[in-house]
Order: sequence, then structure tokens, then C-alpha cells
Amino acid sequence: MTISHRLLDQNDADASIRLGQEAFGFPSDPAPATVAPAKPFPPAGAHAHGIFDGDELAARLFAREYLSHFAGEQVPTCGIAGVTVKAEYRGRGLLTDLFAAVHDAAKDRGEVISTLFPTAPGIYRRFGYELVGDYSTVEIPSAALASIRRPAGIEVRRAGVDDAEAIQRVYHQWASSQHGPLTRTGPSFSGGAAEFLDSFNGVTVAVDSAQQVVGFASWDRGPSTGRGSAFEVSDLIGSTAAATAALWSVVASFASVTGKVKVDTSGDDLARFALPSVDWSVVSPRPYMLAVLDVAGAFTARSVTAAIAAELEFAIAGHPIGAQNGGYRLNVGAGQVDCRHASDSGGVRTYSPQGIAVAYAGTQSSANLRTVGMLSGGDPGDDSVWDALFGGHQFHIRDYF
Ligand SMILES: CC(C)(COP(=O)(O)OP(=O)(O)OC[C@H]1O[C@@H](n2cnc3c(N)ncnc32)[C@H](O)[C@@H]1OP(=O)(O)O)[C@@H](O)C(=O)NCCC(=O)NCCS
Repeated sequence: MTISHRLLDQNDADASIRLGQEAFGFPSDPAPATVAPAKPFPPAGAHAHGIFDGDELAARLFAREYLSHFAGEQVPTCGIAGVTVKAEYRGRGLLTDLFAAVHDAAKDRGEVISTLFPTAPGIYRRFGYELVGDYSTVEIPSAALASIRRPAGIEVRRAGVDDAEAIQRVYHQWASSQHGPLTRTGPSFSGGAAEFLDSFNGVTVAVDSAQQVVGFASWDRGPSTGRGSAFEVSDLIGSTAAATAALWSVVASFASVTGKVKVDTSGDDLARFALPSVDWSVVSPRPYMLAVLDVAGAFTARSVTAAIAAELEFAIAGHPIGAQNGGYRLNVGAGQVDCRHASDSGGVRTYSPQGIAVAYAGTQSSANLRTVGMLSGGDPGDDSVWDALFGGHQFHIRDYF
């Protein structure tokens, strides 16, 4: 084998699409052997990386340029998608070369964390990724929504292109208070308002008495009618409880023709507070993993509560990219974070690569990280400081890639 890495371009589109179809399935129409018509390759905001054996494409993935919200800050993120090794090349460790190249390129672009939706988490842990969230589809019997009424003072109407800015504002207002959601801005979201609206059967906005858009729901009616058919909701986000209830009332109005509602959701969804019944069954889980690519850069990109001023030492051990191992010093004050490499004084609070990923996401307490061996050493008395600085927000992701 003569193994090499390079970025893929339009000339590699057919080989890359074919490899993806072999792994994730051929379209049933057109016929299986047909390769999809040429589109811009790679897509906007994406970098396609390939590993070649001579001239043969043996492995590939896409690295997408994203920004992730972390409680008021937008953190440059490398979103990994379409990871595929050709069947005859599997089990030979090609992913190690691929991820080393992809992480280097991401850091060169200033991306400090990386995220992906794994088909199996075990594939990615050795590259520093750990589970931090879940973008799942839940199912609710339509009848369970029947008692939801549109509150007085809120109107609903179909969104037009002119509503795009207001819809993005509603999304931003919600997403910027969470950990994890993509900003839906930048090169990977270059489609524009018309393309956004065209990608759904309908987008409904909730409007208050001042004619302000205070919520939106994007939805697809689905192909059939009856008890087995589903009305599918991609986003249902209200800036107020009344807006959320008004949007659910629109969904509920399809109960006579669709027996169930499927909702794409993540974490503890605020929209659930408007539901009268317990019905909320996960039918399609999509776990989400995060890795910290540049420890100093990733923490410096965060802002935290201004109530805490502290100087904290920590270390990373066992990171597959050796440059990240060693000591760090974190200075926190006036809501700002400054994190730098420092000499490892020994015995300090030490995270595994997966531990620092989970701590960064704020999805587990320090005590829980100690239980599973992802955090050790240091003064356990500092745990509550770390938890207060980097926890305290819900983790969400509402885009699949
Ligand atoms: C998943 C896939 C990319 C792995 O390719 P591969 O050539 O076996 O990967 P490598 O040889 O570089 O690495 C193998 C490592 O991944 C682990 N791994 C591979 N498939 C796994 C699975 N399904 N579950 C858990 N771990 C898995 C192996 O245990 C091995 O780890 P080890 O070295 O510690 O034993 C390949 O099987 C594939 O293309 N599958 C179909 C598409 C797919 O599932 N892609 C992932 C999308 S998120």
C-alpha cells in the first residue's frame, strides 16, 4: 500500500459519492448503480479529505465549518460527516491518518473544537471525542395534543421570505443561551431564506399583538393519511410560553389526518413544558460527540460568570495529539477566560481527552467525571468552581450533519 492524503476536488466527486453510497446506502431511485448528478463538490463550507492507496480512494470524510453557541460565545467548530473507509481497506488504521490530517487543517482554520454524529462512539474515542448530547426524533400521538389551544394575543401565519430574519432572530435568542447549537450562519449555511423555506412543506410563525415574530415551527406533512402517518416537525421554538403553545396548536390541528407527530429535538426541550401529557417517545436517537482540538484556544473562546475570579491549573494526559498533553493555566475574571499552556507541576487536576471534552460541554459534573475516571487529582474542593464556570447551561444540537 502506498498511502497518501489530500483534499478532494470536483474531479473526485464520483469516487467520493460512490464510496458514501457503498457505506450509507444507494438511492432506491434512480437505480442503485447510478451515481448522482454532479453538484458543487465539496459542498459550500465543507472540506473533503481523502486517503488514497496509489490512485484509489480508500477513505474519505467531510470537515464542515461551523460555529457552536456556548452561552453567549460562538466557538469555531469542525463538524465531521460522511466518514467512510472502503470495505476492503477497513481495520487497517486508515482513520488515524485521516483524523490527524483533518484536525491539523481544522486548527489551521482556527477551529478549536470538533463535533460529529457517530454510527458507533467506539470509533471516535481514540481521537478525543466523547458523547455530549443527542439530536433525537420523538413521537407523540396526535390525540395527546388535542387539548392545546392557541392563547389569546398570539396569531399564527405562514412564513414568507420577509420573515427569514425574524426566524433567525428567534432561533439565535434561544440557541445563544445554550451550549452546543450551531449558529446556522457562515459558509455551511449559505442557502438563504428562499432555500430555507423551500426545504419544508411549511414554516409557521407565531406573532404577538405588536406584530413581532415570537416563535416559529418548520414542518413536513408527510406522504400519507391515517393513524400510521406522521406530521413531522423540524423546529418548534417559541420565545414565550404563549408562542410555543400557539405553534403546538397548529401541529395539533392535523390530528384528524395524521395519527402521530414526530418532532426533532435535543436535551430537555422547553417546548415540552406546553404539553399536557407524558407522551414523548424517542424513536430515532442520534448521539453527538465533541472533541477539544485546541485546549487553550477553546477555553479562551468562552465567557463565564463575572461572579467568579480564579486562577486554576489543570493538565491533559493521554491525548492522541501529543501537543495537547501537559499543563495549562486558566485565568478567569470579569467574565473573561484566558487559558495558556503552562509547565505541568504534577499532581494537578488531570483530564483525559474525553474528560476535557465533556467538561467543556458542561454536560457532567466534576464528581461524575471522577467516577468514570475521566478526571483525577487536584483539589476536589475546586470541582464546584469548575462546575459553576463551565456547567449550568443545557446542551442542545438541532442540526444533523
Ligand atoms: C466505521 C469505519 C469508518 C471504520 O473504519 P476502519 O478502517 O475499521 O477504521 P480503523 O481501522 O482506522 O479503526 C478501527 C478502530 O475503530 C473501531 N471500530 C470500527 N468500527 C467500530 C464499530 N462499529 N463500533 C465500535 N468500534 C469500531 C475498531 O475497534 C478499531 O479500534 P481499535 O484500533 O482500538 O481496535 C468503517 O467500518 C466504515 O466505513 N463503516 C461504514 C460507514 C460508517 O459507519 N461510518 C461512520 C460514520 S459516523
